[in-house]
Amino acid sequence: MQQELGIDLTLLSKIENGKRLPTIEQLQKLSKFYNYDDKLLIIQRESDKIANSLEYPELATETLKVAEDKIKYGNQYIQLFQDTIYQKPIPIESRRYIGSKAKLTEWIMNLIDKETENINTFVDIFAGTASVSNQAIQKYNQVIINDILYANNVIYKGFLKKGKWDKAKLNDIITNYNRLDADLIDENYFSENFGGKFYEHNTAKLIGYIRQDIENLKPELTDKEYNILLTTLIYNIDKLANTVGHFDAYIKKPIKPRPLRLRLIDAQDFDNVKIYREDANKLAQQINSDLVYIDPPYNSRQYNRFYHLYETLVKWDKPKLYGVALKPAPENNSLYCTTKAKNAFKHLVLHLNTNFLVVSYNNTYNSKSHSSENKIKLEEIEYILNKCGKTKIFECSHRFFNTGKTEFDNHKELLFITEVDEKRKNKSLTSLLCR
Ligand SMILES: C[S@@+](CC[C@H](N)C(=O)[O-])C[C@H]1O[C@@H](n2cnc3c(N)ncnc32)[C@H](O)[C@@H]1O
Repeated sequence: MQQELGIDLTLLSKIENGKRLPTIEQLQKLSKFYNYDDKLLIIQRESDKIANSLEYPELATETLKVAEDKIKYGNQYIQLFQDTIYQKPIPIESRRYIGSKAKLTEWIMNLIDKETENINTFVDIFAGTASVSNQAIQKYNQVIINDILYANNVIYKGFLKKGKWDKAKLNDIITNYNRLDADLIDENYFSENFGGKFYEHNTAKLIGYIRQDIENLKPELTDKEYNILLTTLIYNIDKLANTVGHFDAYIKKPIKPRPLRLRLIDAQDFDNVKIYREDANKLAQQINSDLVYIDPPYNSRQYNRFYHLYETLVKWDKPKLYGVALKPAPENNSLYCTTKAKNAFKHLVLHLNTNFLVVSYNNTYNSKSHSSENKIKLEEIEYILNKCGKTKIFECSHRFFNTGKTEFDNHKELLFITEVDEKRKNKSLTSLLCR
């Protein structure tokens, strides 16, 4: 037999005992000798290879099914797989934003629930990411969402405002954007200014191209669809930005190319929402409500400067840009980031026609950076709110927001809840405003 097969006896015994895999040539010899179908032995050999290589045998069935699809569809399978992952819509909280309360909403909403009553109209007057509004919408009859920034306004409309939109139509548009080849796209305003700085150059070309295309499509889109597409663009490029989370500066190292694959945002349409882009102090004089949630900036860092790139992208008026961080001329500077902050806060609370004031306060003060120093002191907030009514203060336990980074070591997150006493407030009005 050894002679007929031309296989060494020791090797043959190892093959028979499953200790060694035969080569194709040896297999063919064996099948001929035993009068077996070649194919059967090859299948045995291939399956042995797969079975021996599995690191998680308990997942073998699923793994083999996926492997089968991969072989069947090749590259197309990978595309298919990515498409399924990308089907999951992006939630409103998943944005990098300084001062976002995304991780604190549960704590804030539970306290509001416990400490207030008869709330019909809820106002989020410095809404930022609208993480708090998004919770309030589920609970209260009417929610007013306001922020001074253009991009935030578009984001609220995209995610939350009632309006007609066709998901299949938007998916088609996005699928086409995802098929674009950056090498075939011309330079544009976005790539010329931000390419190689805030975004890898080819990514910047795609962003500029897509932004212009959304503008070109505007006549064929409903207002809601237009806002969903812009918001989708912002939320997807947020993760690709060559920054530490804002656009005051970019990281000065070569940027690793990463694919721009748009995924639709989790757009909803609520009919209990009103959206404004107003200065909070002006809006305060136009609205009536039961509760106003107040979360202003507390240091000198202007949000319009930190998120200028999204302002430029949304307005798309292609302004002249200045400085290393390529910012446009300032618009919508906030008094809350200046020495006038305390006065602005007093005016705000005194002019709001509401039963409850809920104020978030935090100190991200870092002694090395003057710009991080709070413009309104904790005692000043407490003093002013006490003039408006009975005020309680709550402190959030560190575990809610501390990510373990040293910069958060001294971080305190407080919530003031004031039950407004109109008589007390009116009595203190003149004295407060004169101080
Ligand atoms: C601390 S952030 C709010 C964060 C928000 N609570 C969240 O969860 O994302 C302050 C927000 O106030 C906005 N803002 C600053 N000054 C304003 C003003 N005068 N009127 C309206 N909004 C203003 C900023 O654009 C920024 O989004």
